[in-house]
Amino acid sequence: MDKDLFSLKDRIVVVTGGMGQLGQQYAGALLDYGARVAILDVEPRTSHLNERVVAHTEDTLISLRADVTSKDSLEAARSEIERLWGVPHALVNNAALDSAPDSPDQENGPFESYPESSWNAVMRVNVTGVFLCCQTFGAQMAEAGRGSIVNICSIYGLVSPDQRIYTYRGTEGQPFYKPIAYSASKSALLNLTRYLATYWADRNVRVNTLTLGGVFNSQDRRFLEGYCARVPLGRMAQENEYNGALIFLLSDASSYMTGSNLLVDGGWTAW
Ligand SMILES: NC(=O)c1ccc[n+]([C@@H]2O[C@H](COP(=O)([O-])OP(=O)(O)OC[C@H]3O[C@@H](n4cnc5c(N)ncnc54)[C@H](O)[C@@H]3O)[C@@H](O)[C@H]2O)c1
Repeated sequence: MDKDLFSLKDRIVVVTGGMGQLGQQYAGALLDYGARVAILDVEPRTSHLNERVVAHTEDTLISLRADVTSKDSLEAARSEIERLWGVPHALVNNAALDSAPDSPDQENGPFESYPESSWNAVMRVNVTGVFLCCQTFGAQMAEAGRGSIVNICSIYGLVSPDQRIYTYRGTEGQPFYKPIAYSASKSALLNLTRYLATYWADRNVRVNTLTLGGVFNSQDRRFLEGYCARVPLGRMAQENEYNGALIFLLSDASSYMTGSNLLVDGGWTAW
């Protein structure tokens, strides 16, 4: 077998939301596999990057302020990447909101009063943002006749959140619900992926979804107990445990894979 099957040497990879918990993990892994990484985030300060990532120079890593909900902002980022390095080979649509920032109190209340503004804010980043990034960078890749796009999904886009593991967060008779918008938004990516996979297949741009389970982030003990009891492997993921799947999807190791969903969830959806 070709030892370089997973190599990303000199491939230009755009990672949206690259300043976040998983985005930084991805950036580090991509750099390790030889890629040039362009981080796009509304929070682009390199001082926030972990040490492993920040050790790289502008030759292999750039961090740009870009808002995935703004076509102008994405086009400006695209011009800058093209000026520095050329047309990207890959796009990781990783930026997302779980709950909207400054969410009103009803955010975690009953579905019946879930605010339309929260729904719109989450949909705007998680669905429209992916749509705009695919338009901006995917079109360029299609024109170049090569590319790989990975849309990051969640188990909550495949199955409903198990509200029982959140009940401990209720206060003074007010129940807590994990809201609907995140689930619906992530679910939308599954068919956005299939649509674009078939649409761009003849231009050699592969499009896949990578669906993740929950990542350990020093959550409340009560949440961890409830969550881990629902996982066949009995634990949350470590933040570096999705890197292998991402490298696989972006590299030639997955050259015959498109329109698919790679599910890495510790078995959450298996029972
Ligand atoms: N962490 C988990 O447990 C988990 C589980 C399943 C799926 N996921 C998915 O993985 C991805 C990353 O999650 P994370 O935990 O690292 O999240 P995070 O909140 O740590 O990072 C998200 C990043 O997206 C950026 N962002 C938000 N809005 C943006 C916008 N409009 N334009 C550009 N950037 C924007 C934020 O600034 C942030 O840096 C998300 O798609 C999330 O849904 C995460």
